[in-house]
Amino acid sequence: MKKVFVNGYGVIGSRITSFIKDDPEIQVIGVGKYSPDEKVNVAISRGLDVFVPEKKLDTFRNFKIVGSIESALNDCDLVIDAAPSGNGYINKKNLYEPKKLMAIYQGGETIYGEKAVSDLLFNSRVNYTKAFGKKHVMQGSCNVTGIGRILQPLREKYGDRLVRFDVILVRRWADIEQTNIDLKDTIEWSENPHHADDVKSYLGKETPLFLRAIKVPTRQMHLHIVDIRFKDKAPKPSEILEIFKNEYGVVTLWTAKGTKEVRDFANTMNFSFTDTNMVHIHANMIESIEDTVKLMYSDDQTGIVIPENHMLMQAMLFQRPYEEAFKHAEGLFHMEEKKKALQEQFAKKV
Ligand SMILES: NC(=O)c1ccc[n+]([C@@H]2O[C@H](COP(=O)([O-])OP(=O)(O)OC[C@H]3O[C@@H](n4cnc5c(N)ncnc54)[C@H](OP(=O)(O)O)[C@@H]3O)[C@@H](O)[C@H]2O)c1
Repeated sequence: MKKVFVNGYGVIGSRITSFIKDDPEIQVIGVGKYSPDEKVNVAISRGLDVFVPEKKLDTFRNFKIVGSIESALNDCDLVIDAAPSGNGYINKKNLYEPKKLMAIYQGGETIYGEKAVSDLLFNSRVNYTKAFGKKHVMQGSCNVTGIGRILQPLREKYGDRLVRFDVILVRRWADIEQTNIDLKDTIEWSENPHHADDVKSYLGKETPLFLRAIKVPTRQMHLHIVDIRFKDKAPKPSEILEIFKNEYGVVTLWTAKGTKEVRDFANTMNFSFTDTNMVHIHANMIESIEDTVKLMYSDDQTGIVIPENHMLMQAMLFQRPYEEAFKHAEGLFHMEEKKKALQEQFAKKV
C-alpha cells in the first residue's frame, strides 16, 4: 500500500482524491487546505483527513483539522500537488525537495525556465514509460492533454504525410463550480499561450504545430478547431474517424449541438462531477478539403487530466507496464462504459 497526499483540494485536487481513494493499492493520507472555508467540512464529510500549513493552524481552529501539511508529508510516498498555478514550484522547493518526496504537478506549472518543476511533461498516450524512475513530473494541462490524444494517433497513422497542424483553442472562462468567478462579457485573446511548447515537449520540438488561443465566457469545456494539412490529398472524414474508434479517452459524437449538451448528458448519467474525462470529436463538423482535414473536438477541462494523474502515479510508484496500468485505471474510471453511453446518446441519425 502506497501513501499519497493530495496538496490542494480545489477543482482538480478534489476530483483526483475522489477516484484514488477507491484504489485498493493507495492510502490517501489526506488533503491540504489553505483557506478556512466550507470546503474543509466538505472534505471531512467525504471521509478525508484535512491538513493545513503549520503557520495557519490557528486560523483553522473552528475546524476538525488532523494536523499540519508539513507533518503529513513526513510519512508519504508521493504527493499530488494540485495548487493554483505557480505554487507547485514553490511547494517543490519548500516542501517536497527537502523531504525527498516524489511529486506530480499540474498543468499550470511549467517545465521551462527557472521555475520548471520537472523536465518531463506527461501524456500517457505518448511518454508513459518516461516517468519511470522520475521524482518530479508535470501532468500536462487539459488542453495540452487533449491535443496529444488527437495528434499522436494521427502521427502514428500518417507519419511524414502530415505537413502542419493549425489549432485554435477556444477556452472556457471558468469552471462550473467556480461560482466566485464571473463570466466577463468579452472575448479575450492570449499572447504567447503555453500550449504549443508544452505539446512539443512530448511530441518533438520540430512538430509543425501552430496554435492560437482565445477565451470565451463559458464554463462548459474548451473547443479545439484544428486544420490538419497533408503533403498530398487529405484522407476522407470516415478514415479519420476510424482511427479514433478504439482510442482511449476519445469519443465520436454526431448530434451534440454544443458543449453544455454533452455535460448535461454526463449529469443525467451520474458521471462523477458531470465530467466525461474525454475529448469529444464532433463528427458532424469534420470535413476533408483538398489537402486539409478540418476537425473540431471539445475537451472536458476538469475531467480529462484526472485519469492521466492516476496513470502517472502508477508509472512513478509502481513502474507498471502500460497495459496493466491502463486496466487498473479503467477499473476506477470506466471510460469504455462512458464512451459507449455518450456515443449512443449522440449517435448519427439514420
Ligand atoms: N480547473 C481546471 O479545469 C484545470 C484543468 C487542468 C489543470 N488544471 C491545473 O490544476 C492546478 C489546480 O487548479 P484548480 O483549478 O484545481 O485550482 P483551484 O480550484 O483554485 O484549487 C486550488 C487548490 O489549491 C489550494 N492551495 C492554495 N494555496 C496552495 C499552496 N500553496 N499549495 C497547495 N495548494 C494550495 C487551494 O486551497 P484553498 O481553497 O483552501 O485556498 C485550493 O484547494 C493548476 O495548475 C491548474 O492550472 C486545472
